[in-house]
Amino acid sequence: MIDRRAVAQHFSRAAQTYDAAAVLQQEVASRLAERWPLLKIQPQQIMDLGAGTGFLSQHLRTYYVQAQLVAVDLSMSMLQQCRAKLAPPPAWWQKLNPFHSELGVAFVNADAYQLPFADNSMDMLVSSLMLQWCDDLPSVLAECRRVLKPNGVLFMASLGPDTLKEIRLAWQQVDGETAEHTLHFADLHDLGDALGRAGFSDPVCDVEHITLTYADAPAALKDLKAIGATNASGQRQKGLMGKAKWQAFLAAYAQHAMPDGRIPATFEVVYAHAFIAEHKGSTERNLPQTASIPVSAIKRWHG
Ligand SMILES: C[S@@+](CC[C@H](N)C(=O)[O-])C[C@H]1O[C@@H](n2cnc3c(N)ncnc32)[C@H](O)[C@@H]1O
Repeated sequence: MIDRRAVAQHFSRAAQTYDAAAVLQQEVASRLAERWPLLKIQPQQIMDLGAGTGFLSQHLRTYYVQAQLVAVDLSMSMLQQCRAKLAPPPAWWQKLNPFHSELGVAFVNADAYQLPFADNSMDMLVSSLMLQWCDDLPSVLAECRRVLKPNGVLFMASLGPDTLKEIRLAWQQVDGETAEHTLHFADLHDLGDALGRAGFSDPVCDVEHITLTYADAPAALKDLKAIGATNASGQRQKGLMGKAKWQAFLAAYAQHAMPDGRIPATFEVVYAHAFIAEHKGSTERNLPQTASIPVSAIKRWHG
């Protein structure tokens, strides 16, 4: 179980250091944005879910200039960074209204499991590297579907099971099989299936591996901490870890060094996009097994 209060706290603590360390996040946001021109759509209302400090929101502002954008995040401090990037500081009287929209952008501190928006209110919902922080995928996808309009589109990027495999293997070596030091990541097939079950049509998923390299193991771990990616699992180890155990872990991680001596951190990035059928609830998978044909369409049979 992921503790969402801990997630919000981790990201709030990391908000100031996030941008300098978030190399992967910037790259994934760009790669997600490269996919938009493939669809000839003109969305009016767009939500960036788990907007963080706004890498993806910045692309949205540039590409869909006319659209109204809503940046949503669980962490208020991340949203504040996003606001600083996307909009100038508001006047005091504007601050009184939390939904105040500046330059066509609204910033909303909310949880993906309970979005404070009406049904059928968004034309497009995008989300980059937020979904791996949600352990109940069906509930979050159902919420995304609820707020999307018929014909709406969802674009997302999340992390797959190979993510941080070097760190997981190193901990296994130190702790044994049961230790849980990284999140559980859903794979491409889980995500595609979950989208279909949530009522999205024509889901398309693909995957790529991106490996970042660091001078040494502490440098890799420092970067992960700087982007708030410390383990927020409810089973995370509480209390202080012994120095010997930590040194054993660093040594085990260092064994994964590349030929040039640099330490790798692998990320499996899963991309997906899917649509809402024109008539909500009538996606292929939800169609009843019987078809109804208007009587007027039935021709008389002349024997
Ligand atoms: C790794 S950051 C990605 C931020 C941004 N999309 C980017 O690509 O830089 C994950 C973000 O998701 C947010 N987040 C995590 N769980 C969330 C939830 N249940 N609802 C809304 N936001 C959430 C975090 O606060 C954090 O800002």
